[in-house]
Amino acid sequence: MTSGLLSPFKKGNISIPNRVVMAPLTRRRATDNHIPTEIMADYYAQRATAGLIISEATAISPQAVGYSNIPGIWNQDQAEAWKKITLAVHQAGGHIFMQLWHVGRVSHSLLQPGKNLPVSASAIGINEMINTPEGHKKTETPRALETSEIPGIVKDYTDAARRAIDAGFDGVEIHGANAYLIDQFLHSSSNTRTDIYGGSIENRARFLFEVVESIIQEIGESKVGIRLSPSNTRYGMDDTDPAGLYGYVINKLNNYNLAYLHLVEPMLSLDEYPHMIRDVARFFRTVWKGALITAGNYDFEKGESAVNEGIADMVAYGRLYISNPDLPRRFAEAAPLTEPDTSTFYAGGERGFTDYPILPLV
Ligand code: FNR
Repeated sequence: MTSGLLSPFKKGNISIPNRVVMAPLTRRRATDNHIPTEIMADYYAQRATAGLIISEATAISPQAVGYSNIPGIWNQDQAEAWKKITLAVHQAGGHIFMQLWHVGRVSHSLLQPGKNLPVSASAIGINEMINTPEGHKKTETPRALETSEIPGIVKDYTDAARRAIDAGFDGVEIHGANAYLIDQFLHSSSNTRTDIYGGSIENRARFLFEVVESIIQEIGESKVGIRLSPSNTRYGMDDTDPAGLYGYVINKLNNYNLAYLHLVEPMLSLDEYPHMIRDVARFFRTVWKGALITAGNYDFEKGESAVNEGIADMVAYGRLYISNPDLPRRFAEAAPLTEPDTSTFYAGGERGFTDYPILPLV
């Protein structure tokens, strides 16, 4: 019998042969100019048996960059290189969305155009070391965006979404998770603005909804997914009322017929955060009316029960997808899984990228 996780799923624009999703995974194999490389086409094509691939986070503008050798989608050279990747995935029978990324304050002036300070909702820094072209550096206090600059960033997201669709992507995922710019606007710990983008939950969520609505206008709601991480505490993220904040956001997202909502489970201990939600997908399943992807520490059994219990429609696998290009088949055949080598996650080159074993055809 086909299991829940390995059964097909259909909703709107998404019609996929199984519910195993490749999570977005930054691998830093692009060029110094943030152009995707040929080996990235091999890497994604090898993983095309995923029901859905979500690309590594991809910068929407030069200002959106927070790491070297991550890909971008703000110019035509990048779009042309992505075309080869979407073609390779489609030829291998796969489906691929692009994750759209602006890191906000998780950057460094050495990675920014004109060596300017990174931007954020407010001028509140994080105490982290960050990898720059000149080695590991301490993060700086970001510059708070002027109210008048925000429409320009919404436009960068929208232009990036258009370019992604023109480059052959089946849709885009708005990266609203993991402490990056949209998250920095959402959370009370990183947003102390006094304009219409700060203060109340509604105001802090305004930037996110402007991005959602503008992208929908450009490419249509069924091609848009969004990723949120309500219980992420990394990079100084906290909130006085996470249940209220995300209850509002997720309920309002129901107004759009989005491709999916992608929720990340907490990845760090919440011992010191009693107000944070433990079981994120289970908590919000009753609020969200559309297709739901859950991610974070899943194996086959946990993913299977999440689908069978109706907690999520699809399950995203991160680290297991790095080291098991044929993950759905391994699950189907209960074949042993290869452990990922963390030392090559961001190492550049083919090693630990395109050389993980694929089960031989029988
Ligand atoms: C990630 N993750 C991540 N998340 C995201 O939204 N965009 C990204 O580009 C990345 N990049 C990334 C790189 C690497 C090397 C890792 C390990 C993780 C988080 C990822 O999508 C996923 O949520 C977590 O890895 C948890 O899932 P697993 O690994 O427990 O299945």
